[in-house]
This record gives sequence, C-alpha cells and structure tokens, in this order.
Amino acid sequence: MPEDKSLQSVAATPLRTTVVHSDATAKWFVVSSIAYFFIVGIIALTIAAKFVWPELLGTVSYLTYGRLRPLHVNGMLFGWLLACDMGLTYYLVPRLCGVKLYSEKLGLATAILWNIIILSAVVSLLAGWNKGWEYAELPVWVGVMVVIAWVMFGINIFATIGMRKYQQMYVSLWYVMGSILWTAFVYLTGNFAVEFTTGVNQANLNWMYIHNAVGLIFTPIGLAAAYYFIPKASNTPLYSHKLSMIGFWSLAFVYVWTGAHHMLHGPISQWLQTIAITFSLMLLIPVWAVVYNFFATMKGQWQQLRENVPLKFLMSGVVFYLLTCFQGPMHSLRSVNAIVSKTDWIPGHAHMALLGCFSFFAIAGTYYIVPRIFKTKLHSEALANWNFWLMMIGGLGFFVTLWLGGFWQGWQWNNPAIPFIDTVKALKPIWTVRFFSGVLIFCGIVAFAYNIMATAVNANLEGGL
Ligand code: HEM
Repeated sequence: MPEDKSLQSVAATPLRTTVVHSDATAKWFVVSSIAYFFIVGIIALTIAAKFVWPELLGTVSYLTYGRLRPLHVNGMLFGWLLACDMGLTYYLVPRLCGVKLYSEKLGLATAILWNIIILSAVVSLLAGWNKGWEYAELPVWVGVMVVIAWVMFGINIFATIGMRKYQQMYVSLWYVMGSILWTAFVYLTGNFAVEFTTGVNQANLNWMYIHNAVGLIFTPIGLAAAYYFIPKASNTPLYSHKLSMIGFWSLAFVYVWTGAHHMLHGPISQWLQTIAITFSLMLLIPVWAVVYNFFATMKGQWQQLRENVPLKFLMSGVVFYLLTCFQGPMHSLRSVNAIVSKTDWIPGHAHMALLGCFSFFAIAGTYYIVPRIFKTKLHSEALANWNFWLMMIGGLGFFVTLWLGGFWQGWQWNNPAIPFIDTVKALKPIWTVRFFSGVLIFCGIVAFAYNIMATAVNANLEGGL
C-alpha cells in the first residue's frame, strides 16, 4: 500500500498553488539544450562513420577523430543532457516549493554563461586545446566558467528551496540538492585537484571523476526529474516516500567508492580494487529501491503507456536504468572485467545509461513541460511517438551490438594467438550496425527538435511567449 499520502500528493497534484511561474530560465535552458542535441548528434554520426570509413574527412586537423570525439562527449554531456536537466530543475523546484524561482534574472544570466561555456568548449576542442583527461578535456579557463555557472545555479535553487511554502520536501528536492553539492565536489576533483597528482594516483582520481560524473551528477539530477515526472505524467501518487529516501541515502553512501573498478587488474593496490568491487555490488540497493518504487507507482496504470509519450520514455528509461545498473556491478567482478574492460562493451554501457536512461528521462520531461511553459499544445503527438520508436529501435541496435562486439573483442584480446590488427578488422560489422543505429537515433533527435521548436513557434504565433 502507498504510504505517507500527504507528501505524495506534492507530486500527484498538478498545481497546488496559484503562483504564476515565469519559466523564462527553464525555456532558455531547454531550448538551447535541444539545439546542441541536434548539432552534437551530427558530430556523433560523423565519429561513428569514421569507424566504418576511416578515410572520411581526410586529414583536416579539426575534423579528425581525436578532436571530434571529445567534442561529442562534452557536447552531449554538458551542452545537451546537463543543460536540459538544469532547465527541468528550474521548472520543478519552484513548483515543489510553492513559490516562484528565487531570481529569473540570475537564471537568465546562468543560461547566457552556460551558452558561452558550450561555444567556448566547441572552439577549444576543435582547436585541439585539450587537457587530455577523459570527460575533463576542457581548458582550465572554461572549467572556471563552469564552476561560476554552477555556483549561480546552486544559489538560485537553494534560495528557492529556502523560501519554500511546503515544509515537507518531496524526494526530487533531495536529489536536486544532492546533485548540486556532489557535482561541485566531483567536478572540482576531476578538473582541478587532479592537476596536483601524478601517475597512478592521477589515473585513479580521473576514473573516480568519470564514474561519478555519471553516478553523482547525471544520476541524481536525472532521478530528480524521473521522481517528479513519473507521478505527474501518470497522474498517480508515488508508491513510497520512505523507499525513495532509502534509495537517496544509499546512493549517497555507495557511489563515491566505485570509480576504481575501472582499474581492476591495473597497478593499484588489491584492497582498493576489492573496495571498488564491494561498493559496486552494493549499488544494487539504491537501484532496487528506485526501480521498485517506480514500478509499484505504475501498478494498474500500465495501459497509459499506449497513448502517453512522456510515460513511454520514462518507463523505458527505468528499464534501461535497471539494466545498466545490473551490468555495472556484474562487470565489476574481476572475472567478467578481465574480458570486457576497455572494449566496446564500455561505450555500449555508457550509452545505455546516458542515452537510454537519462536522455530518455530528459526528453520525457521536455515533452511534459514545453506545452505548459509555452502555454500551448504539443505540435504533434504522432511525431513524438515516432521520436520514441526511432530512439528505442536505434538505441537497442546500438547497445546490444556494442555489448556483443565488446565481449567478442575482449575474448580475442585474451587470446595471444590473434594479432591485434585482426581484432580491429573483426569489429567492422559491429561498427557498421552502430552507425546505422546512430542514424535512427539521429532521426529521433530531428523529430524531437522539430516538434519542440514548432511548439515554441506556434506559441509565439498565438502570443503565448
Ligand atoms: C546519434 C547518437 C549517438 C552516436 C552515433 C554516438 C556515437 C559515439 C561514438 C562513436 C563514440 C566513441 C566510442 C569509442 O571511442 O569507442 C561515443 C562516445 C560517447 N558518447 Fe556517444 N553517440 C550518440 C549519442 C550519445 C548521447 C545522447 C550521449 C549522452 C547523452 C553520448 C555520450 C557519449 C559518451 C559519454 C561517450 C564516451 C563513452 C566512453 O568513453 O566509454 N552519446 N559516442
């Protein structure tokens, strides 16, 4: 039975107050993030194509794989996903608090600075100004701007929560606050503290950053959105607040220790490897708490999936979350890791988390809020449905072939009789499927971007802006 009904009603009641929200900041973040999703989608297809046709785009330095890959990674992570999640946060926090956003002016200044950061990142990475650490490639001066923007975001969100009318705090607020504090810690460590270390310690800090970029930046802000939008989109109270709190605190306790599982069989001490494996297995606790809560919320509501596009994205995202977080602990085991580590399995795993789960949550949230903040109807439900199926089929093609390919690659690497170059040649069919799956995903991005932009333009014509 659901418990703690008063708190759950925070999520289930569409509008408890008469507060009129401007949502200007949310609009800017969401719309610009979608533009980057489209542009960086083209870069994604280009690098996927280079695996199949290595001569593509010749030797022009700024179009080489080494420049475009970090552009794809940073563009998707910071230009699309984090920016979209920030936009959704600017929408949901004031509503969960029953007050207006603390400062729309500060929010708009943050949106402008964020766009400057992304454009600076594009120029820097194409020019080859790259620190050389994965996910932390951006030059120091761009990193400093990220820190300033994050402080501005944090002040606005914490001040809004500080002014809240409702004493009880819905679980999304906990995750938003956690995400702001953890991102600060993870980003500063991965981008700045790492400079003061060398050798194995530096690699260890870098992996701690990479893993926690997913676990302590994108996971909490993505779950904040899922906890808000699943009850909203299905118009059903959350199953259990207590369970959501178990998920939150266990995530806070467990995640930070897992990064060293990327260095198993490497030159780090065995005790550190064992700690990373143990905590990776313990991740199953927060994951179970989250997934059980969402499935239980949907009990008796599954028929809504037929018509409700945001809910389709949300619940598929939950299934991908479950699969990703089952895969993670399993490939942290020494025996499995000996096969899949550093192979294509890892990008397969990373894309299921960041595209299949967290981007699906962000897309669902965008479909939910855009008609509301622009005060109009979504341009086309049918196109949104196409968007879902294109991304779902493309995504499955992408993830599954990379897992199979990665496993096969790892098996070949473990066989000293097979020359390395043969293991590269063997993967070409896998990369070809990945490219065509990417084309489907990109068509989904185009449908999404067009639908949202057309909705915004319609609102403008109707005078809703
Ligand atoms: C059209 C869709 C996409 C295609 C074709 C694509 C393609 C690629 C390719 C070819 C790589 C390099 C893999 C390698 O070096 O072995 C890559 C890496 C990566 N991509 Fe994507 N991508 C897409 C969408 C996304 C999205 C939506 C996100 C995140 C929101 C994302 C995040 C990443 C990350 C984090 C990496 C680095 C993975 C790692 O180091 O293991 N990608 N992508």
